[in-house]
Amino acid sequence: MKICFASNNAKKLEEISYKLQNTGIEIISLAEAGITEDIPETGDTLQANALQKAHYVFDKTGLFCFADDTGLLVNALNGAPGVYSARYAGEQRSAEDNMNKLLLELHGSTDRSACFQTVIALIHPTGEYLFEGEIQGTISEEKRGEKGFGYDPVFVPEGYTQTFAEMPAEVKNTISHRALAVDKLIAFLSH
Ligand code: IMP
Repeated sequence: MKICFASNNAKKLEEISYKLQNTGIEIISLAEAGITEDIPETGDTLQANALQKAHYVFDKTGLFCFADDTGLLVNALNGAPGVYSARYAGEQRSAEDNMNKLLLELHGSTDRSACFQTVIALIHPTGEYLFEGEIQGTISEEKRGEKGFGYDPVFVPEGYTQTFAEMPAEVKNTISHRALAVDKLIAFLSH
């Protein structure tokens, strides 16, 4: 089965492709689908944004597809940056700037608990579906590690001491918010 992944994020594509190995599900990239522009995401929930991105690609290409929208929710910041995680430090969407702002906001805070949430929206011949994944953890005191992307250098998943950016990719791809949502997508597409 071939399905389009409605994202220009090469790192998300890498993580999801890893999960889809040996499942018989093959990804059509946005480049292959002929979409090169940024896909709008103007909703105020992860669900709305994931659906918006999947609809955009389906409407333009007619390809069945899925999209991923992810947010980091920090308890001491009342759930911020949440759905606004990409632009937390401004429109330039810089991961470095976003992490620096987060570390500054949390400076001196004893509550560093946070969670990552991913919502995958699927547009499928039988309808539209949402699959969600969540992982609890804490925000580290400083950035650590070179792997992964986005906020990975500052997120330590519960039960681990390494940040997502320090641990082997296979471990992140087994336990992460995205991994859990993709597991549900695979189960759905395989039944
Ligand atoms: P979006 O889902 O592409 O809108 O991503 C929202 C923000 O979260 C962006 O700043 C991403 O870099 C970041 N992000 C998304 N997924 C991950 C992840 O798995 N680890 C760390 N940061 C992520």
